[in-house]
Amino acid sequence: MSTTILLTGGAGYIGSHTFIALREAGFEPVILDNFANSHPVVLERLERISGRPVLLERGDVLDTAWVADVLRRHRPAGVVHFAGDKAVGESVAKPLKYFHNNIGGAVSLLRAMTTVFEDGSAPALPTLVFSSSATVYGDPASVPILESFPLSHTSPYGHSKLVIEEMLASLRRASPAWRVGVLRYFNPAGAHPSGLMGEDPADIPNNLMPFVTQVAVGQRPHVNVFGNDYATPDGTGVRDYIHVQDLAAGHVAALQALLSKGESFTVNLGTGRGVSVLEVIRAVERACGKTIPHVFAPRRAGDVAQCYADASLAKRLLGWEAKCSLDEMCADAWRWQSGNPNGYRG
Ligand code: NAD
Ligand code: UFG
Repeated sequence: MSTTILLTGGAGYIGSHTFIALREAGFEPVILDNFANSHPVVLERLERISGRPVLLERGDVLDTAWVADVLRRHRPAGVVHFAGDKAVGESVAKPLKYFHNNIGGAVSLLRAMTTVFEDGSAPALPTLVFSSSATVYGDPASVPILESFPLSHTSPYGHSKLVIEEMLASLRRASPAWRVGVLRYFNPAGAHPSGLMGEDPADIPNNLMPFVTQVAVGQRPHVNVFGNDYATPDGTGVRDYIHVQDLAAGHVAALQALLSKGESFTVNLGTGRGVSVLEVIRAVERACGKTIPHVFAPRRAGDVAQCYADASLAKRLLGWEAKCSLDEMCADAWRWQSGNPNGYRG
């Protein structure tokens, strides 16, 4: 069987870490990316870490005929679909961008995979791992969150993830040959322990961890803590921060399960541990040895008080569980941020 795995969006934050984990597990990942939200310097870093050249297909997942051609040439055993836009706030301002790139991108990829499977030009069974998000649970009625909880959306970004999950379910009902692993990520954070790869937000970070490390490195004056009156132990929002290295290992486990057992699944990828904003700030302070100024600000529109996973299904189905602590996550995020204050832009 082919060991090739196609990673759409493989040059991005989660894709690049998954690339290394796949290589370490004996797979041969190929990156398909248009660099809309990533930087080609990541390819050099991937080569430095893995000691081998990186296979890249530069282009747009929306180009169905080209994606089919990529599939015919590489004949991957499976595809991981990371490519898409992910900024919740931007999706509220520009919903069509999200429906076009996220839903349109998924339709394009699924059509290309169907074409090459049906015409026999890439004969592996269609096998897909999809990057979904805990955002599909909307505002959960309780925590920890089980996969069976009701699904909803609070932004066009979340809506796009939900539509894609539903499309994948319809496709599997119509064509049982499809093997699909839907991974609902909680809050990815941290960086590669080498300090060579990490999260590289193009603009002011929306997410907490890169914002806190940018304050720590002196690029921003203080952290705005969005709300201190939530019904949580210290009043600040609680999330399930998962080390990107654990997340990468989750993709390897998902692919191995799909390829060996052939059964589709939908699982949470989280730690099962809820951590508050103030606890994150204190953990980054421990990692960098500095005090991180913060001010309390009003709640951010659309935020929920608490969101953390029941992660037991992934353990049962995939034999996977998160291993890294919050302190390791912050130490790795700090190593990346302090060694690369401007990310991949030097
Ligand atoms: P990222 O932006 O770093 O990576 C996405 C990659 O996809 C980028 O390299 C970008 O250039 C590429 N891309 C975008 N549109 C493309 C297109 N049309 N054709 C080809 N390439 C394209 O994001 P990430 O944090 O690595 O997230 C990966 C996936 O995980 C996304 O689907 C995201 O929605 C999902 N996710 C992320 C988070 C998170 O907090 N990072 C949480 C839950 C889910
Ligand atoms: N926060 C701050 N200050 C900041 C940034 C964030 O206090 O500058 C707080 C938020 O209010 C929240 C927590 O830190 O309580 C985490 O916020 P993030 O923006 O890092 O993460 P979210 O949980 O809001 O969003 C993440 C992903 C989304 C996804 C969502 C639900 O970024 O893509 O989880 O799964 F939709």
